[in-house]
Amino acid sequence: MTQATAVAHPNIALVKYWGKRDATMNLPATGSLSMTLDVFPTTTTVTVDETLAADSLELDGCTLEGTPLDRVARFLDIVRGLAGASAHARVVTTNAVPTGAGLASSASGFAALAVAASAAYGLDLTPRELSRLARRGSGSASRSIVSGVAVWHAGDDDETSFAEPTAAPDMAMVIATVEEREKPVSSRVAMVRTAETSPFYPAWVTSTAETLERMVDACAAGDLDLVGRIAETNALRMHALIQSCDPPIRYLTSASLTVLDRIEALRADGVLAYATIDAGPNVVVLCDPAQAPRIADDLAAVASTVVARPGPGARLVEAVA
Ligand code: PMV
Repeated sequence: MTQATAVAHPNIALVKYWGKRDATMNLPATGSLSMTLDVFPTTTTVTVDETLAADSLELDGCTLEGTPLDRVARFLDIVRGLAGASAHARVVTTNAVPTGAGLASSASGFAALAVAASAAYGLDLTPRELSRLARRGSGSASRSIVSGVAVWHAGDDDETSFAEPTAAPDMAMVIATVEEREKPVSSRVAMVRTAETSPFYPAWVTSTAETLERMVDACAAGDLDLVGRIAETNALRMHALIQSCDPPIRYLTSASLTVLDRIEALRADGVLAYATIDAGPNVVVLCDPAQAPRIADDLAAVASTVVARPGPGARLVEAVA
């Protein structure tokens, strides 16, 4: 029996990944850029056990079967393929992020699983190889392997599609949670519907590639205001795109719009604050670390708020008994 435990944090994209070029390999239609957070960790222990008849999955003390277990078992098949192993594994995971509420729980989940499973099966992978492996579980997980700000290169194939660190100004994020329930349509399903039915999808793909170049430059120049402006435009474009599916999907609620209104009011008051929103109703405010407490105070009237700073990439830890 061999065992390994890993911790990973979610990441929030400032240039979004929305759409796949290759669903089997999880190759994205465009590159993306994100900040790994220092809050809401996922801790995952993988125990490889020759005596098990099948893989098993426990999340926050509950045994899971069906789709979540199938996804994990398919991912373990990839790890077993790399390791030349056949034994099944027990996966025990705890998530400090509300699962499925558009706060990137799949990113921290598959990043932690990639690090723990590869170690438990005896693989010694480089950060780039870990990022490529995590990508196979969930695209955005490729970025949670990286500390701080990461750029995920779209790449041409499995080998060239990975995330790596990129220079960026000091920043903070205020996470404004308005809804903790599971989102109605998964990002996986919504991405396919977008690509198949939205007339705007080709324009999203070409414009996002250009947006990413501008974002990487703005980050390297340390221009936080420009980083925020590009991020908010990109997020609102993604939601406009998603709403243009047939049948339409709308993740934004009236509570999300209330938060967006307050961010505009803060900006009118001279506060550097810009919104981004993943595939859910919760809003994340990109800001200067010095102004984060003031923004969190203001938004506390309409959302529950947590201030996040750049956090560590996924890593192995000692198992807690
Ligand atoms: O990695 P997935 O399949 O959970 O998709 C993530 C999609 C967004 O969170 C909306 C955007 C992103 O780049 O993280």
